[in-house]
Amino acid sequence: MAGWTEKDIPDQRGRVAVVTGSNSGIGYAAARELARRGARVVLACRSEARGTDAGDRIATEVPGAEVEFARLDLGDLASVGQFAAAFPYDRLDLLVNNAGVMALPYGTTADGFETQFGVNHLGHFALTGLLLPALLATPGARVVTVSSMMHSMANIDINDLNSERRYRRWIAYARSKTANLLFTHELARRLAAHGADVVAAAAHPGYAATNLQTAGPRMSGRKAGERFMEVGNRFFAQSAEAGALPTLYAATAPDVSPDSFTGPHWAMWRGSPGPSWRASWTCNDRAGERLWAASEKLTGVACGRLTV
Ligand SMILES: NC(=O)c1ccc[n+]([C@@H]2O[C@H](COP(=O)([O-])OP(=O)(O)OC[C@H]3O[C@@H](n4cnc5c(N)ncnc54)[C@H](OP(=O)(O)O)[C@@H]3O)[C@@H](O)[C@H]2O)c1
Repeated sequence: MAGWTEKDIPDQRGRVAVVTGSNSGIGYAAARELARRGARVVLACRSEARGTDAGDRIATEVPGAEVEFARLDLGDLASVGQFAAAFPYDRLDLLVNNAGVMALPYGTTADGFETQFGVNHLGHFALTGLLLPALLATPGARVVTVSSMMHSMANIDINDLNSERRYRRWIAYARSKTANLLFTHELARRLAAHGADVVAAAAHPGYAATNLQTAGPRMSGRKAGERFMEVGNRFFAQSAEAGALPTLYAATAPDVSPDSFTGPHWAMWRGSPGPSWRASWTCNDRAGERLWAASEKLTGVACGRLTV
């Protein structure tokens, strides 16, 4: 996979993809490249204005692109349910669980979950569960969930998933990204037990300059923090396009294994896609089962078709 670029994406004509958070950053770049190779891409975004604007930009950059906006707020389970109920296709070749928030001041989602755990993990858990019938009906389908090397900062605390005892914004982010990997591990295990022709894999972008880094400081009014992040993005980060390559590899390369974790090969930070190191706690069957059970309980989405 050394030297793999977006030019290596196989023909995607006839395939349907959903990319969450595709109005900016890595999700936008991934959606555009999938559309360039012929996929019909659903831009699943929380803001209609930003989502339709992204669709217009892709249509300008890629004439003939088949992209459409559909509203999805991962911080509101009612919105996730509405998105899935209105999903207009009977096939889903690719679900990219990309949307995310990082190191925000403490807050909760519409359903009362801590925002980072609620948006980054629970929203995607519910979305995947509700779209499972379309995924299972599509031979060779994939679910790619975008995690981060920051997962290595913290394991989840199964007794305090919503950080109610103590909230530390970076630890909460790290835990949500560990949850992304544990979810992928457990989903892959359940798909295998079910004999399903669906691959669940994970990816991370290394360090890519996007809106992710500045949103947290801006929300908490920390001007110096925002400036610090801007300088980091300018001098140390790779582009959002480069950051999207591991996601695109996990989504489309022919030889992707279930529960694999793809990231930039150079110091796990930048460069073309390669296999990535992950913390051992993200491959623990018992932890995966417990997170799955807790997520079913919290979201009310029972992925009953995938019992083990
Ligand atoms: N950039 C990096 O260096 C880096 C490193 C490691 C991992 N990641 C991961 O990469 C993924 C993409 O992030 P990015 O860097 O591309 O950042 P980004 O440009 O800020 O994109 C994040 C996307 O998520 C969307 N989003 C946020 N909250 C949402 C919600 N409640 N419902 C639906 N969509 C929501 C945002 O929508 P709005 O525009 O409406 O806010 C935006 O489209 C994230 O999962 C992040 O954790 C990024």
